[in-house]
Amino acid sequence: MNRIKGKIVIITGASSGIGEACSRIFASHGANLLLVARRKKKLDLLREELLKENKITVKTYELDVCDREKVKDWAGTLKKEDLTPDILINNAGLASGLNKFHEGDFTDWDRMIDTNVKGLLNVSRVILPVMVERNQGHLVNIGSIAGHMVYPQGNIYCATKYAVRAINEGMNIDLYGTKIKVSSIDPGAVETEFSRVRFKGDEKRAAKVYEGFEPLKPDDIADAVFYVVNSPEHVNIQDLVIMPTAQRNPYLLHREEK
Ligand SMILES: NC(=O)c1ccc[n+]([C@@H]2O[C@H](COP(=O)([O-])OP(=O)(O)OC[C@H]3O[C@@H](n4cnc5c(N)ncnc54)[C@H](OP(=O)(O)O)[C@@H]3O)[C@@H](O)[C@H]2O)c1
Repeated sequence: MNRIKGKIVIITGASSGIGEACSRIFASHGANLLLVARRKKKLDLLREELLKENKITVKTYELDVCDREKVKDWAGTLKKEDLTPDILINNAGLASGLNKFHEGDFTDWDRMIDTNVKGLLNVSRVILPVMVERNQGHLVNIGSIAGHMVYPQGNIYCATKYAVRAINEGMNIDLYGTKIKVSSIDPGAVETEFSRVRFKGDEKRAAKVYEGFEPLKPDDIADAVFYVVNSPEHVNIQDLVIMPTAQRNPYLLHREEK
């Protein structure tokens, strides 16, 4: 059963990886999309592709989720244009660096906290009230297994994803008695631009992360997000952990010898 057709879905971080894959699956099921990222060109290319293949509307927004004032303005624009979101997928996020805590870089730390925690808060705070007003909607947070277990040198990235897990729980508790659903999807290793961003463009180092095992693909996570969002009204999947079969926790990852 398709419960998505005609719904308005916001996807943050839609210019790449998991967000891009989510855009494709929701488009193919007839959702109208509001796509957010900083790289507008990438969003516009995706928009063109989605419009060719599906009878939907797609709007793209160049927006840094860390910029609270701009996020507020953007929400105002949606309101003015009568765009009432049914679903929000809080996916924009990143890791920056991989260092021992005592060698950590303040700029990396700020980047992760500002994006993964404050960015998610900024967007949720302006969109959730619209859902509460209608007593309808679904908010999906893309967390991580890094929010369930800390791994060596993952310190601050893990802290941001632990925060996402706490926020997911807090939202669920505060929405008790409403029809609004809140879910967290927590992936293990997914091959996206994630490691390239973490290692600041070092392609070789990024490629090594996915060597010797079959990582998840962005589509694997998008399928799960779709399943969660398409579930019946009385079903609220609060937290879903997904790992590649080769991985059993953040650092127990079986790699085949070459
Ligand atoms: N890949 C993994 O192994 C993995 C595992 C667990 C969880 N996750 C989580 O999954 C989510 C998506 O990551 P991904 O793996 O798909 O990585 P990705 O390919 O690097 O995609 C990240 C997306 O986030 C957007 N983004 C980053 N900072 C932003 C900002 N300040 N404002 C707006 N958009 C921003 C990027 O777009 P622009 O650069 O165009 O702004 C991009 O579209 C993240 O929350 C990540 O923590 C990933």
